[in-house]
Amino acid sequence: MVPRKRVLDLIQSISAAACKCPAHSHAGPVVITGRNSGSCETALPPTDYAFEMACSTIRYGPGVTKEIGQDMVNMHVKNVCVMTDPVIAKLSPVKAVLDSLTKNKINFKIYDKVRVEPTDKSFEDATNFVRGNDFDCYIAVGGGSVIDTCKAANLYSCDPEAEFLDYVNAPIGKGKPITVPLKPLIAVPTTSGTGSETTGVSIFDYEPLKAKTGIANRALRPTLGIVDPLHTLTLPERVVAYSGFDVFCHALESFTAIPYNERAPCPPDPLLRPAYQGSNPVSDVWARCALQIIRNYFKRAVYDSQDIEARSNMHLASTMAGVGFGNAGVHLCHGLSYPISGNVKTFRPKGYSDEHAIIPHGLSVVMSAPAVFRFTAASCPDRHLEAADLLGADVSNAKRADAGKILSDVVKGYMDTMKIENGLSALGYTSSDIPDLVKGTLPQHRITKLAPREQSEEDLASLFENSMKVF
Ligand SMILES: NC(=O)c1ccc[n+]([C@@H]2O[C@H](COP(=O)([O-])OP(=O)(O)OC[C@H]3O[C@@H](n4cnc5c(N)ncnc54)[C@H](O)[C@@H]3O)[C@@H](O)[C@H]2O)c1
Ligand SMILES: [Fe+2]
Repeated sequence: MVPRKRVLDLIQSISAAACKCPAHSHAGPVVITGRNSGSCETALPPTDYAFEMACSTIRYGPGVTKEIGQDMVNMHVKNVCVMTDPVIAKLSPVKAVLDSLTKNKINFKIYDKVRVEPTDKSFEDATNFVRGNDFDCYIAVGGGSVIDTCKAANLYSCDPEAEFLDYVNAPIGKGKPITVPLKPLIAVPTTSGTGSETTGVSIFDYEPLKAKTGIANRALRPTLGIVDPLHTLTLPERVVAYSGFDVFCHALESFTAIPYNERAPCPPDPLLRPAYQGSNPVSDVWARCALQIIRNYFKRAVYDSQDIEARSNMHLASTMAGVGFGNAGVHLCHGLSYPISGNVKTFRPKGYSDEHAIIPHGLSVVMSAPAVFRFTAASCPDRHLEAADLLGADVSNAKRADAGKILSDVVKGYMDTMKIENGLSALGYTSSDIPDLVKGTLPQHRITKLAPREQSEEDLASLFENSMKVF
């Protein structure tokens, strides 16, 4: 295959040669001027030339949740919706929020029926609840399932005319930009994984397709993320392990994603620049920091629930990786994970509320990671080696040609340490499921096209086949 870089260089040279105006007839960044002032000036470069960093305001500190009532007073809020799931509803994070609201005499109603690993149906249930009330602010207390549900309920109650698929990512939905004003949403994450408190992304399992998809728009970002490490002390071991691998893959995938200035097309309007733009120098900083923290604290956080230093650091790493991937994006591990979760058979993980079979998000994501990084390494071996180094491998004498194997072995080492199931076969999948898994990955090109190497359907099938057993 011709390397992507050479194809892009060729396109760039052709477009520069075809136009003799001062903006395009020399190498270097293309300058776009007024839209209606001549044929050449409306031309866009073939790939993007800019990136934009968007992130929620973040407040971090042990016990900082107690400030939330005063926040409501400062925001002149009168009627708050507190959203959570049935397990967290009985735990200290929700108690801390409610105590603070009560102390500050703020009216609130609780919705505690969020489904773990939400679906289109459970989003609709939450939306119906909030539509019947006149809330002027939302507080989401929980993991990604709660925060994402709250984002969607806020959106659909602020645009009651909208059809559900209007805002869902294309090609599954219409991918309509959000232009209606939303109510403020304060996210209080209680897992260390999704980074949803920082992102404009809301993910759900779209049951008709048996695959996850989402709504992605900067407007969905929480107004404020209250990152309070005390909330991690009640997390069960398996939730720390699986959600920790979500952080791990957010950092690795955003770091190895295609660079933002190789992503096509260049948007004609900044509103249309996607949230997931490709790797860029600012996202790289967050990904590197998150990988270093994972190296030092992941294992300790999983196996010692009272190790406040380790759990606090993983909580921060989750937010840091969220800022990185929320702007750079993720690619194949996440793209492949969506049908892995959506086609779940009977797997019921320990530590999760056991109403239904689920494959927790972080577990579904890391399953393919060893195969994915072996596949992508040839496109940017230096990045794969640097990631392996940040995760603790000695790469001083490593050859670039071995980058895929080296990073893949490092990932397997972490999976072994955290006692992760041995591949898709341990989750109930066989080779006969691969056509369905590929079918559910194909519509995920919003993210799979951010991979540094293009993939055919056969490539996707091989990635699933190579993930049947990890060790
Ligand atoms: N919006 C985004 O940017 C984004 C990114 C990645 C993943 N996601 C989505 O987020 C969801 C997964 O979220 P998650 O991994 O944070 O887990 P989760 O919200 O599904 O929660 C996992 C389990 O842990 C329990 N739990 C949570 N906090 C607890 C605590 N402090 N103490 C005890 N138990 C607790 C929950 O009740 C649940 O049973 C998936 O739907 C995934 O697709 C979203
Ligand atoms: Fe994720």
